[in-house]
Amino acid sequence: MTVEEAIRHRRSIRRFLPDAVNVKDLREMLALAALAPNVSNRQMWRFIVVIREELRHMLAHLVEAHLTAMGQWPECVHEGPRLRAWQEQALHFAAAPACIFVVNQGYRTPLDQILVEHGMRHWETAGQFGHPDIQSVSCAMAYFTLLAEERGYATCWLTAPLVARHDLHIALECKPGEELLAVLTIGKPAESPLPKPRKPVDETIRWM
Ligand SMILES: Cc1cc2nc3c(=O)[nH]c(=O)nc-3n(C[C@H](O)[C@H](O)[C@H](O)COP(=O)(O)O)c2cc1C
Repeated sequence: MTVEEAIRHRRSIRRFLPDAVNVKDLREMLALAALAPNVSNRQMWRFIVVIREELRHMLAHLVEAHLTAMGQWPECVHEGPRLRAWQEQALHFAAAPACIFVVNQGYRTPLDQILVEHGMRHWETAGQFGHPDIQSVSCAMAYFTLLAEERGYATCWLTAPLVARHDLHIALECKPGEELLAVLTIGKPAESPLPKPRKPVDETIRWM
């Protein structure tokens, strides 16, 4: 399979066959994903691979409890359908054969420090450079989705579960300063959705 074929065939898959994902495959794909370009080669990604089903269910319960609590907020009284849709988008990782919680350990350049001493806030310096740590970790995640495709797996990239970020952080024993960025599910696909249309490319390009 060429890179172009992997890009063309990849879909976000939300239903998987029960077949387990080969742990050796997972390890190899994560090693290859680490060849992604990343700021100053700091490799600030960390991958928490959840292969234990009962742990995935426990984590999904934390997310569900959070969404249920939100349903009681006055602001959410008329938001039932939207919350249910969110719930669907957030909880399917529990039924995937494996999922990876992707952590950003963050990175600040010496230049960041100079800008901070000059009066900028840390979050402003991160924005100044386009959040290079997040770009780096995302790049590795994108590589991973394509490698998975090449090996006959399907994936879905999720951020909705992070509504329960704080609880997940504790349950996954993340260290202070580690930021949960996303969840990647992986398994053999049990659905084959049609490709989602993309904007005409010329709408997205400005030639100068
Ligand atoms: C940053 C990011 C966050 C996403 N969050 C979720 C999510 O929480 N739940 C979900 O089911 N899909 C999620 N997706 C998948 C998108 O919905 C999907 O990529 C998009 O609709 C295009 O469909 P395709 O991936 O099949 O081409 C996310 C994708 C990205 C890149």
